[in-house]
Amino acid sequence: MTDARFRRSMLCLPASNAKALAKLAILECDATIYDLEDAVAPDMKAAAREALIGHFAAGAKAGVEHIIRINALTSPWGEADLEAVAQCRPDAVLVPKVESAADLSEVAARLDKAGVNGTRLMAMIETPKGVLNAAAIAEAHAPRLAALIVGLNDLRKETKVPRGPDRRVLVPWLMQVVLAARAYGVSPIDAVSNDFRDLSAFDAECAEGRAMGFDGKMLIHPAQIEPANRRFGPSEEEIAAARKIVAAFDAPEAQGQGAINIDGEMVERLHLEEARKLLARVSS
Ligand code: COA
Ligand code: MG
Repeated sequence: MTDARFRRSMLCLPASNAKALAKLAILECDATIYDLEDAVAPDMKAAAREALIGHFAAGAKAGVEHIIRINALTSPWGEADLEAVAQCRPDAVLVPKVESAADLSEVAARLDKAGVNGTRLMAMIETPKGVLNAAAIAEAHAPRLAALIVGLNDLRKETKVPRGPDRRVLVPWLMQVVLAARAYGVSPIDAVSNDFRDLSAFDAECAEGRAMGFDGKMLIHPAQIEPANRRFGPSEEEIAAARKIVAAFDAPEAQGQGAINIDGEMVERLHLEEARKLLARVSS
């Protein structure tokens, strides 16, 4: 089962950006992804690690999932990134360009060796092999693997699907990642939207991501937090509908019934289970 934690808004920021790090205190995202990888220039990698160690030492914000995105272990920076992770002890390490279960096994083994076994794993699925092997990756690493995050900038580059707002041709790959994640109780997370000024397009993309079954979205700008929380979170209508289902099954006439009629719609006990989970989640 996917864990109960909300991952509606997972805000990424370059760990080298002091202003962005300071801003986190007032932002209401569910998760923060401190990037050491592509958002940090090669000559800033060391400074970014130092800034991150300082940020965690000062006490990372409570109630937020803290994730560090490292460089690949095959890059010149991966080893030093893992040393920084051992000092910061984030909730999870996000590994870029994961293409096989083995790519994550190596990171997991290194974390264990450094005594950081409470830190979970997350994988960027952003290459053709990553999409093709998403199920094997999730199967091998759940439940330590908490999320599969789609990376469309890299995937478009690798597959030569041109950039653009229309994601229609990408839907089969996006759904493949959702399916792989759900099969093993891992959170599927939708890709970033680069155009952070066009919030109405972003809102529509969040709605599309929710419709595809994603738990949330990776974000790049504070303005994207509110629409992501709203679109991926249960709406007032969904909460009211869940309450109605629970009340209807609690009624004496529903006892012993597997399926009941609520306002002309068939509702089954599997919907009751879903409704109870939703209510437990919003009240926790
Ligand atoms: N996290 C936290 N704060 C952020 C932020 C982020 N990702 N992006 C912007 N901010 C802050 C800015 O520091 C600024 O703070 P201020 O109000 O104290 O001045 C405020 O939000 C408004 O920012 P704005 O001026 O609109 O944008 P910008 O030009 O400073 O930054 C980007 C634009 C794209 C460079 C920046 O949003 C960014 O680096 N995003 C993340 C990129 C990333 O992580 N990529 C890798 C994953 S794909
Ligand atoms: Mg990438």
